[in-house]
Amino acid sequence: MKYINFLVVLVIIGIGFIGYRFMTKKNKASSIVSDLNTEVTQQSLVVEGSIPEWLNGSFVRNGPVSVQINDQKIAHWFDGPAMLHGFTFRNGAVSYTNKFLRSKIYEKIFVEGSFNYAGFATKSRFSLWEKIANFFTWNAEPSIQNANVNVGTIANQYVALTETPLPVRFDIKTLDTLGALKFQDDLPKKNIFESAHMHYDMKKQEKINYLIKYGRESKYVFYRYNAEKPYRELIGEVAVDKPAYMHSFALTENYIVLVEFPLTVNPIDLMIMAKPYIKNFSWHPEQGTNFLIIDRKTGKLVNKIKDNDPFFAFHHVNAYEKEGKIVLDIVTYPDADLIVAFGDLNKSYDEENNHINQDAKRTKLMRYTVSPVTEIIDSRVLLDEPIEYPRINEQYNTQPYRYVYAIDPRRLMLSDVQTGVLRPMYKIDTTTGNKVLWQESGVLPGEPVFIPNPHSDKEDEGVVVNIILDVGKQRAFLLILDGQSFKEIARVYAPHAIPLGLHGQFFKLQK
Ligand code: CO
Repeated sequence: MKYINFLVVLVIIGIGFIGYRFMTKKNKASSIVSDLNTEVTQQSLVVEGSIPEWLNGSFVRNGPVSVQINDQKIAHWFDGPAMLHGFTFRNGAVSYTNKFLRSKIYEKIFVEGSFNYAGFATKSRFSLWEKIANFFTWNAEPSIQNANVNVGTIANQYVALTETPLPVRFDIKTLDTLGALKFQDDLPKKNIFESAHMHYDMKKQEKINYLIKYGRESKYVFYRYNAEKPYRELIGEVAVDKPAYMHSFALTENYIVLVEFPLTVNPIDLMIMAKPYIKNFSWHPEQGTNFLIIDRKTGKLVNKIKDNDPFFAFHHVNAYEKEGKIVLDIVTYPDADLIVAFGDLNKSYDEENNHINQDAKRTKLMRYTVSPVTEIIDSRVLLDEPIEYPRINEQYNTQPYRYVYAIDPRRLMLSDVQTGVLRPMYKIDTTTGNKVLWQESGVLPGEPVFIPNPHSDKEDEGVVVNIILDVGKQRAFLLILDGQSFKEIARVYAPHAIPLGLHGQFFKLQK
């Protein structure tokens, strides 16, 4: 039970960012795809192009980085300590701050000088996880976890998030770590998994999330965050024998939809811990995929619909109701190989990298139309391309919408950099299936984040920001595209190469 953190590791792998290893193999010293030791605070950057005058605020992105001290380094990027990267826009000027979260792992590395937790899916790794086990339990003074997946706000506080409790508060200006956000409520706090992808329904002004309580009686627990206090109000619970691994979920005006993939675990196996964490989860395609429909108001399970077609996904795109039906868009994989195979350490770096690229190749942007009370009415492919990191104009979350922004998540091999292989970023029109793309040779885009123009009510009027890693030139820049034309309007070079990361959000400027 203490190894729920392993899930976080899996997600990160699953998302596909281990390509750095082909670099580390060739160049043991360091890799720009993963490494960064330095921090800077509010450094002014030169802007190439022009920043819209309405764009004021901070774009903060989270993710693990690999570090190196004396000749020691973290063996795997996804074990790296969380680092926040913040680009602040103010009246056309841009400044940059990056900071490690001062977590237990950070202390271990930088204070104790220990890389004792390096290594993945090994016995020794587990003993380390055990040592830092209060990541997963509720103590009077919980230690600060390595929250390296996402950022957000809860009860008016900026927080770094992962899939284990608790959120870690940070200062939006300095990105300094402020401590754990302790919830004062009665929801389960031990032996839980929680999604790092909470939903914000702007229309109803509600933030909703779910957690999985593992135990003799496991359950999915749905809740809303109180807007002012660190308090979570229970919406409802659904008992489950063998919980599935799910990285995100869907929300509509009236329903929470949990798409339960057939990648499941027997909680008893987790408790016994006779084998490494990943080996407890298994893929059961014969079980198909379940759509659990929960009423947002009553918290009751309205329907559980079985789709005989098994699939897996990390990220939901959006969902909404239309003529009494639920329309749900999601980036699917035909199986969970991406996750399951990473328990196998016998693979070479190149094999792993290749594996990621092959798995990413099989992703599809799917649209399911579901009756809340009867069955799945339709499923169709909106886009048959390798994509991940789907984002939308968040004002359209739970509402009918048109545009998805996403990237080709496949990694670049060194030969790809030299031969100009492209890894595009897309703007996808879900009504037509058409896509517009931005691409440049030798670069890896991160997650595209759409920032709406506050003076417009057009869905795509705004900008798309993305931290782009130029692998060939060993530097990084923040790319700013016009949301409508998807053409570059500005780029801002960071003072150092910013390693590949996970999720980011834009926060409007505070006084
Ligand atoms: Co994610």
